[in-house]
Amino acid sequence: MLRLGILVSGGGTNLQSIIDKIQNGYLAGCGIVTVVSSKTGVYALERAQKHNIPSAVISKKSFGSMEEYDSALIAHFKQYEVELVVLAGFLSMLGQAFVDTYRNRIINIHPSLIPSFCGKGYYGIIPHQKALEYGVKVTGATVHFVDLEYDSGPIILQKAVEVKPDDTPESLQLRVMQEAEWELLPKAIRLYKENRLILEGRKVRIE
Ligand code: GAR
Repeated sequence: MLRLGILVSGGGTNLQSIIDKIQNGYLAGCGIVTVVSSKTGVYALERAQKHNIPSAVISKKSFGSMEEYDSALIAHFKQYEVELVVLAGFLSMLGQAFVDTYRNRIINIHPSLIPSFCGKGYYGIIPHQKALEYGVKVTGATVHFVDLEYDSGPIILQKAVEVKPDDTPESLQLRVMQEAEWELLPKAIRLYKENRLILEGRKVRIE
């Protein structure tokens, strides 16, 4: 079984899409061994509890330094023998030691077509607000490997989603989730499980 450790910060709809796809067999051979939230009281934690998945809150604020926070995260993921780390709406930053420990084994979903509307400060609803302000006709979602910069690692999958003239940030966010995110993140996990993601420099070839 591919042991997944999921990092969350919010409602957890992307976590739910992974749970659903494990249950319906699309992600056969994968299991979520731990869900770690950067915040207390988020609905993602309730989703984990409902499905009897061990969960924990590990918050940067409770540690004196990035190094201590990173060490706590690494210790937790090692305890659960996590093989692939999935950032599913995780809005905190990971440190050098964590990224080094899980190099090429951390993936993230971002709600835009990278390199548009990404980087520091672009998270949650903000990429959708910025896309509407800019007036783009198409946006989407991206799954990528994680490195030390925001949203900069090699791109695994992208899917475009139409922007409609009467969209609000909320309606656009929901359409991007429904049409792209909930499909792409499980798909990337499945490709990883099947050893079909081949890293060639900063590019990912899908076999
Ligand atoms: C999702 O739209 C995800 O792409 C985004 O946060 C939302 C979390 O929703 N992630 C980022 O912005 C990361 N930079 P969820 O908690 O319902 O999965």
